[in-house]
Amino acid sequence: MGTLPFMLFSLKFLLFSIQISSETDIITQFHSLHDGSTLTNGAFELGFFSPGSSTNRYVGIWFKNVPIKTVVWVANRNHPIQDKSGTLSISKEGNIVLQSKNGTNHWSTNITTKVSTSNLVAGLLGSGNFVLTDEKDNRDSGFYLWQSFDYPTDTILPGMKFGWNLTSRFNRRLTAWNNWDDPSSGQITYGFIKSDLPESKIQNGSSVIYRSGPFNGLRFGATQKLKHVPLFIVDFVYKTDEYYFHYQPKDPSLLSRIVINQTVSALQRFIWVEENQKWILYLNVPRDECDNYNRCSSFGICAMIGKSSMCECLSGFTPKSPQNWSVKDWSQGCMRNENWRCREKNKDGFIKFQNVKVPDTKKSWISKSMTLETCKVKCWENCSCTAYANSNITGNGSGCIIWFSDLLDMRQLPDSGQDLYVRSSAIETTNRDDSRKRMVVVTSTTCSIIVILFLFIIVFCWRRKAKSKFRETKLKESKSEQEDLELPFFDFGAIKFATNDFSNNNKLGEGGFGPVYKGMLSDGHEIAVKRLSHSSAQGIEEFKNEVLFCSKLQHRNLVKVLGFCIEEQEKLLIYEYMLNKSLDLFLFDSSRSKFLDWSQRFAIICGISRGLIYLHQDSRLRVIHRDLKASNILLDADMSPKIADFGLARMCGDDQIQGNTSRVVGTYGYMAPEYAIDGIFSIKSDVYSFGILLLEIISGKKNKGLSHSNRNYNLISQAWRLWTECTL
Ligand SMILES: *[C@@H]1O[C@H](CO)[C@@H](O)[C@H](O)[C@H]1NC(C)=O
Ligand SMILES: *[C@@H]1O[C@H](CO)[C@@H](O)[C@H](O)[C@H]1NC(C)=O
Ligand SMILES: *[C@@H]1O[C@H](CO)[C@@H](O)[C@H](O)[C@H]1NC(C)=O
Ligand SMILES: *[C@@H]1O[C@H](CO)[C@@H](O)[C@H](O)[C@H]1NC(C)=O
Ligand SMILES: *[C@@H]1O[C@H](CO)[C@@H](O)[C@H](O)[C@H]1NC(C)=O
Ligand SMILES: *[C@@H]1O[C@H](CO)[C@@H](O)[C@H](O)[C@H]1NC(C)=O
Ligand SMILES: *[C@@H]1O[C@H](CO)[C@@H](O)[C@H](O)[C@H]1NC(C)=O
Ligand SMILES: *[C@@H]1O[C@H](CO)[C@@H](O)[C@H](O)[C@H]1NC(C)=O
Ligand SMILES: *[C@@H]1O[C@H](CO)[C@@H](O)[C@H](O)[C@H]1NC(C)=O
Repeated sequence: MGTLPFMLFSLKFLLFSIQISSETDIITQFHSLHDGSTLTNGAFELGFFSPGSSTNRYVGIWFKNVPIKTVVWVANRNHPIQDKSGTLSISKEGNIVLQSKNGTNHWSTNITTKVSTSNLVAGLLGSGNFVLTDEKDNRDSGFYLWQSFDYPTDTILPGMKFGWNLTSRFNRRLTAWNNWDDPSSGQITYGFIKSDLPESKIQNGSSVIYRSGPFNGLRFGATQKLKHVPLFIVDFVYKTDEYYFHYQPKDPSLLSRIVINQTVSALQRFIWVEENQKWILYLNVPRDECDNYNRCSSFGICAMIGKSSMCECLSGFTPKSPQNWSVKDWSQGCMRNENWRCREKNKDGFIKFQNVKVPDTKKSWISKSMTLETCKVKCWENCSCTAYANSNITGNGSGCIIWFSDLLDMRQLPDSGQDLYVRSSAIETTNRDDSRKRMVVVTSTTCSIIVILFLFIIVFCWRRKAKSKFRETKLKESKSEQEDLELPFFDFGAIKFATNDFSNNNKLGEGGFGPVYKGMLSDGHEIAVKRLSHSSAQGIEEFKNEVLFCSKLQHRNLVKVLGFCIEEQEKLLIYEYMLNKSLDLFLFDSSRSKFLDWSQRFAIICGISRGLIYLHQDSRLRVIHRDLKASNILLDADMSPKIADFGLARMCGDDQIQGNTSRVVGTYGYMAPEYAIDGIFSIKSDVYSFGILLLEIISGKKNKGLSHSNRNYNLISQAWRLWTECTL
């Protein structure tokens, strides 16, 4: 009760009494309040004020002990009083009214329920809630005839319910001030939109600035994991008659507020730090560029790369204006590849995107009882359906949302979001756009990756930009679709048998993306099996696309992919077996290198060149290998060279830093400087690697890489030195 004397002091101009309700919340009552006097309770104060440089008088609530006047609620925001004659009182009709000297009403609680005015109590609660209530019973049960918490201006306070009463169709929402000198209703608003799916939006007039994403049973679609220990208990209550958001600080003495800030059009959560006497910004929404509504336009998906955003078209879609898209003008969005036609069930597939903020639900349909399987069928049946997803991701997921026409405002969320299934045809998924290949993903989990990353940082400490890539994984469709592929599908059991249950004796080596085993099929055919590591974030569908892609590349100097196998977590690639294994085993082994005479070396160089020309120029697909090195050149029984790992390197290398990092570390010596430093690669990067390979084949020495401090050990420096000396 230490605050009591202070209250008595500040209420000396009023008729007052203090009552304690059962919630132990003291109500500071008043009968009439004149300009100049205040009503105080706990951390809050109610009274008359003039904002900023304005002379207009308003009735408001602010933090009492915060020296920076922070108004959290305004009564007469649109009807200021020009002088200091305002009086707040309870009217004959049982409303709290604000009147100026000549009797003009500037504000009223405007309730129509007829109550006996003699029992009415109006006052301020310790929570900052300004209330009007009647009988003691109601007061005790927290029922108020009117409460300012139901009519927030621009601030949500702890304990406030923010959202809809669905029976009375009453919505509590925020409207920003026009400017800091004028609390009148501005353009910027924040609130839950009326929809079958609870979702909040920040708007400027009618145009959306930010969308929270629909509530999916666990959280709102755009919610990102907090980087710090939360100071608040945040809850969303979703019932048949109401839904609302509310929050409480874990430490009840902490002063905090959520406010819609019109200068930056953002929703901000501030906490008061006593030591600094400052409001500290705790959370700001939109959080990053990708949070800005529809950043990537139709069918585009946004991902953050460091502090800037990057848009991509969904698989099966291409930019409407490739020119504008290439200069990061994403406003035109994407469209379906031309060859797409709506097809019936089982012809069209769905690509699964993980960790996505689902599209705007403006044009959508929802059923809370449907399963994902029936949802898919429902989508199939209607050609204007473009995507579907679970409406509730709790447990194994339930409910169904289907989207019609353009998909807007999607983004990638590293560790939240949900699965979204986008309609596409199987053919399209193979012609994926190239832009993706430029990006590299940041996903790290295990210690080893951290260690490698650390090495990576040391080696590339000058490397400026950290790049990332969409971790876009695709759906494992039914087995029937596997049969659609032109490439043979191998049975996992058969491969397991052929490789002697992937025994270590059968292991040929270990690549960046998993071990390679030798195997013998029951018909006597020898095969090499690459077993992609489980940790690979590669999706099944993407893997299959890559397999398809590989199967289309046919050249006598490329290793032949015989088939593939997918079984749950297992992803296997089956190659023809190369009797003489890889080139590095010959080149860098003192005894075996003797087998390689000059004519043989020359034949190998010619073979590799032919394979590379095919990849770069002659194949329909044009492939950048990106990982050309001696260990990726396989030798058949006739010592004819075959380039291996094409496509795979790109596929895996792009999608995860571990692939990329281990490759960077392992084969740094082969990387063109512009690729190593800026991550830019082109056909020229392969040519660079080829040059290194050439020097290695000729010299029989390993290139130690740029990282070697002694430049004499560096093959290129040495070659360059010799070259200049010869020509001098
Ligand atoms: C009261 O004063 C306001 C200006 O403060 C004026 O607009 C209004 O007309 C006046 N009302 C009466 C009844 O005089
Ligand atoms: C008071 O409420 C009535 C109906 O509930 C509405 O028509 C009127 O505009 C309200 N007046 C004010 C000042 O809010
Ligand atoms: C919703 O509003 C109606 C009518 O004002 C009221 O009777 C009901 O109690 C409210 N529901 C909730 C959950 O507050
Ligand atoms: C809101 O939109 C209007 C145009 O409709 C624009 O002039 C104004 O600057 C916008 N305000 C903010 C805060 O973005
Ligand atoms: C989501 O599903 C869970 C479990 O099935 C259920 O308990 C919960 O009420 C659902 N939430 C919503 C918002 O429908
Ligand atoms: C509005 O947001 C800006 C940027 O975060 C901040 O500097 C400013 O203090 C905020 N204004 C208020 C009144 O909170
Ligand atoms: C590309 O952007 C410019 C400027 O924003 C615009 O005028 C043009 O119409 C766009 N091109 C296409 C093909 O949409
Ligand atoms: C497909 O869905 C759209 C949007 O709900 C609807 O207008 C149309 O009638 C549906 N078409 C069929 C064939 O059901
Ligand atoms: C979720 O799926 C798993 C495997 O399909 C099953 O074992 C489990 O019972 C399911 N859980 C619920 C709550 O349906």
